[in-house]
Amino acid sequence: MMNGKLSWASDSEFSIEGVEFFATVDASQYHSRKSDGGRFLIVKDRSMIEQELSICGPETRRNVVDIGIWQGGSVAMLDLVFKPNKLVALEYAKRDLPMLDSYIRAHGRRQNVSVNNGVDQGNSKLVRSIMEKEFRDEPLDLVVDDASHLYENTTRSFNVLFPRLRKGGLFIIEDWRWSTRVSHCESEYFKGKVGLANLVVQCMILCAVRPDVVANVMVCPGMTVVTRGEGVLAADFDIAGHALNRGQPVPLYL
Ligand SMILES: C[S@@+](CC[C@H](N)C(=O)[O-])C[C@H]1O[C@@H](n2cnc3c(N)ncnc32)[C@H](O)[C@@H]1O
Repeated sequence: MMNGKLSWASDSEFSIEGVEFFATVDASQYHSRKSDGGRFLIVKDRSMIEQELSICGPETRRNVVDIGIWQGGSVAMLDLVFKPNKLVALEYAKRDLPMLDSYIRAHGRRQNVSVNNGVDQGNSKLVRSIMEKEFRDEPLDLVVDDASHLYENTTRSFNVLFPRLRKGGLFIIEDWRWSTRVSHCESEYFKGKVGLANLVVQCMILCAVRPDVVANVMVCPGMTVVTRGEGVLAADFDIAGHALNRGQPVPLYL
């Protein structure tokens, strides 16, 4: 299903309400380009964008978290598509993002879009305090994690954010399959690191053990979508302690 808000000029160019985007997953392109000249750079390809928005559907996404900003393209896209009451973006680097800043100003979204640079997704204490400040007791509707893609960091922010999702809320883990691809797992960035695929396996096991907590896990090549059930989770939730097989934590073998 296509998202009616996006108007595609080509497989790498689209616009939403007159805001233009250049979409690429080609590392040489996204490392050499910036969001400028009136066009946001977004690090996703057309099929990923269409699939992600289709999975999110027409439902209201009032409270949204986007982890991993790069040039701000995903923040602007999520804001334009969902018009959330609050969109909190977290990013490790401290890059200047003038186009995102001017988008937020020009669209009157200062009260709605909160950009947090210098935040490591693995810093549970900091991520938790940002959530408490921005959302207070309100549940989240959608989390998109496109940040480190490393198991430890991703799991730490998952453990903080997943319990905060409402029933039916979605947690999207992008680019989870790098350890299954020789070209990726031998790269300088991923070599010797624990595969993010382990978190996907833990989500599947948790769905079996606690279907009240994980209602559904949808595994796609470019993303895994975990749907929250209604079961209550403690603030110190740790998936490793709940995703048990034969009564034991799942070994991180991927
Ligand atoms: C693939 S880019 C994000 C692309 C963006 N979501 C988009 O669609 O255009 C990944 C981003 O995650 C950030 N990142 C990497 N490790 C991180 C960490 N531990 N915590 C937070 N952000 C991190 C990187 O600095 C980079 O900006």
